[in-house]
This record gives sequence, C-alpha cells and structure tokens, in this order.
Amino acid sequence: MNKNLDISHEESLRQKRIMDKLSKQIKGKGLKYYVSTFGCQMNAHDSEKLKGILEQIGYVPTEEEKDADFVIYNTCCVRENAELKVYGRLGSLKNNKKHKPGMLIALCGCMMQQDTVINEIKRAYKHVDILFGTHNLYKLAELIQTRLDTGRMVIDIWENYKEIVEDLPSIRKFKFKSSVNVMFGCNNFCTYCIVPYVRGRERSRKPEDIINEITDLVDDGVKEITLLGQNVNSYGKSLDKPLTFAKLIQEIEKIEGLERIRFMTSHPKDLSDELIEVIKTSKKLCDHIHLPFQSGSTSVLKKMNRRYTKDSYLELVSKIKEARPDVALTTDIIVGFPGETEQDFLDTLDVVKKVEFDNAFTFLYSIRTGTPAATMENQVPENVAKERFNRLLEVLNEIVYKKSKEKVGNTYDVLVEQINRQDDHLVSGRLGSNHLVHLKGNKDLIGKIVPVKIIESKGYYLIGEQIN
Ligand code: 5AD
Ligand code: SF4
Repeated sequence: MNKNLDISHEESLRQKRIMDKLSKQIKGKGLKYYVSTFGCQMNAHDSEKLKGILEQIGYVPTEEEKDADFVIYNTCCVRENAELKVYGRLGSLKNNKKHKPGMLIALCGCMMQQDTVINEIKRAYKHVDILFGTHNLYKLAELIQTRLDTGRMVIDIWENYKEIVEDLPSIRKFKFKSSVNVMFGCNNFCTYCIVPYVRGRERSRKPEDIINEITDLVDDGVKEITLLGQNVNSYGKSLDKPLTFAKLIQEIEKIEGLERIRFMTSHPKDLSDELIEVIKTSKKLCDHIHLPFQSGSTSVLKKMNRRYTKDSYLELVSKIKEARPDVALTTDIIVGFPGETEQDFLDTLDVVKKVEFDNAFTFLYSIRTGTPAATMENQVPENVAKERFNRLLEVLNEIVYKKSKEKVGNTYDVLVEQINRQDDHLVSGRLGSNHLVHLKGNKDLIGKIVPVKIIESKGYYLIGEQIN
C-alpha cells in the first residue's frame, strides 16, 4: 500500500469513529438539518456528501430552513451575486438562531477559501458556528464535535488539499442517477475565474476508486452517472500511472448494469481525438456534450487565457458533429469581459449561430478580486454589457427553440426522474441529449428508461408520450 493510500484510509476510519461517537449524542433526538447549495454540480455533489455525514451522525432532513437545528450553506464564489446571496441569507438566519439557541450554522465551499470572506464573517456574522473550505469537507463530523466541545466558532480552512479521502457516506438526490468525481481542482487559470484559487490544483482520483464507486452505485440501483471535474479532459495526467479520460470512459463502460454515462465539464483545448473516437463509438455515452466557449472573439479568448481560437473551437465542434451527428451541444458564455468590443461580441453571436447550441448558460462578466482580469483596463460599462446580454438571449432563444422543435416526431429513450411538480398526472425525465420532457405517467415509471415519442416542443422543455 503506498503512503498516500495509507493516510487516506486512516483518515476515513478516523472520521467514521468520530461519526459513531457523535451519533451517541445526536441520534434519536429528532434534530433536523438543512443544506443549501449554491453554484455548480460539483457543489451539489459535495452537498450529498455533507448530507451523508449529517445523517450518519443522526440528524434528519427538513425541507424548511426555519425548522432546522443545523443549517449549512455550501457556497459559491464564481460570481459576485452568489456571494451576496449568502450574506443576505446569513443576515436572516441570525433571527432564527435567536429563537433556537442550540441551533448550529456552518458555512463551507468555495467562498470560504478567501481570506476576505473569513474576516468578514468573523467581523459581522458572529452567529456562525463552523467555517470550513473545499479541501476538508470530509471532516464535518469532527468540526461539529469540536464546536460542541469548545462552544467557540470553529474555523478550519486549508490552502491546499492533503489527500483524497474515499469511502465516506453520501445521500443521493436520485436513487437511479448520480454524479461521481473523477478529478478535483483546475490548473487552467482562465483570467476571469476564481476556481483555481479556491479549488486548488488538478488531481485525479485513481481509476480503481472511480470504478469501485460506480460499481457500488450500480449495485444500489444507479443507471446513469455523470463524471464530474472542472476539466475532465485533462483527467489522469497527475496519476502515478497516467490514464486518459477516453480510456477511463472505456473502462467505466464495461460496468454491467450501467446504462448511461455523461461528463462535465470539458475544456475545448483538451478535448482529444481519442475522446472524439469514444464519443463516436460508445454505446453508453449520452448524446450531449457541454463545451463552454466563453467568447467567440479570438482576441478576447487570448485575454481570457483560454488557449483556443474562434476557428479552432468551430473546427472542434465540426469534428464532434461529424463523429456523432445527433449530439446536443451546450455551452457557457461570458458577456462583457474587459476590453470586449462590439465586434468581439458579434463574434460571440456568430459562434452561437454557427454551432446552434441546444442550450447555454449565459453570464455577465463579474469582477473577481485576485484574478488577472479584475485589474485589466477597459472594463465594459454595465449598461453596455447588459444590452449585449439581452441581444445574446434573443439570438439564443430562437436557436434553442429551433433545436428543440427538431425533436418533435422522433422517439428517444428517456430516464424518468420524478412526478411533475405542477401536474401529478405527468412525470418528467431527460433525453440522452439532456432535454427535459414531460409525459403522462405515474410513480412506477420513476427510475426507468422508456421510449418516448416527442409530440410537442415548448422551447425549453418537450411534451412526449410513452411508446409501448
Ligand atoms: N464572471 C462571469 N462568469 C464567470 N464564470 C466563471 N467566472 C466568471 C466570472 N468572473 C462562468 C464561466 C464558467 C462558468 C462555470 O461560470 O462561463 O464556465
Ligand atoms: Fe475556471 Fe477556466 Fe478552470 Fe473552468 S477551466 S474552472 S473557467 S479556470
């Protein structure tokens, strides 16, 4: 056994002992927890691990924050808005706590990796009990124990990760689908982005750990997995025995009973021909690729440090479409990056029109202190950025509607996820392309993959009927 594996195993056992001990204090008291997740899928998946620990030590879930004895915010700092929301919500939690003296409040995730945030919480939000970051989430039970023992605010933020601790409990949102981390962190340093500073350098999980986790998930009823990483295409580079992401997918594909594989996020600069070949031939990879392009202007892309050009992005898209003509493409776009001119923005629109994305996440550029772009000249005035943003939405809407209309009349496999929130005669599910579809059905369909004929497009969702 190598040394790191030893440490990781030891740590996991130590945490389990702490959970056992803590559960003697907490279990059976009906104490409730509430987890609020901000940001991306990575955070959503981390929250499942937090829930796993909390339930292991005896907390029970509640849908109502005001009823909770333990509230935890898993925070995001990719844009300023996400941070402001956390501060706002913390303000109102102060009142709740006044009426519930034993209540505990914890904050974790990306925001906590910034000194300025920690100082602000210490100064103005003294009612918070526990602060921890992105590298030591597995220590939640230990931090709760320390808080209960000392009665003081506990702050445990690591600048870097130490080891990947495997094999801790987790509560999945869906019984039949799950995310699985393949790597953590990011080495790319796009100049607008704070992620590399708060999530640390890239490190990949060992393929055997990933395969074991997925095998266990499949044994437990999972049919679809999403492989998660900030940049999955550079998976495996940091391993003792390097392995490409394409090879990893091929290994995962062999797991019997697993039916669908997704992955996100892909960086265009690292999406290899080898992976395109797997996209072409794989039987289990869904026909959906999320491929953020951020800006269509080669000069903006250079200033963003994205390391591809407008033309090379378009070429890559052509190759993917050639390999798998039915593929749905989605993307992330930033509007108003420093120095963005009208012509640069027109290049962004041009890429949107040429690629014809099935969907896109669009963002107004948000200054993140500490990133190179924050101090760049020619920050775009807010009114100009907003005006461009609205124009982008108009163009996008039209394309998204057109793409979803193309589905009408065809039949697709749909993984049914839940009863429709508005109408309980309907169920909702997703196509391989990730399009959302509603169809007549009841709870017996949940978790099943069924053929569905699309009968109507409503733009951002579809209406279908099950084919027998
Ligand atoms: N401003 C706006 N959007 C950003 N993103 C990352 N950093 C910023 C920022 N400073 C967007 C990118 C990324 C997505 C997760 O968030 O589009 O792909
Ligand atoms: Fe941020 Fe760029 Fe890394 Fe994505 S690839 S997390 S945008 S630095």
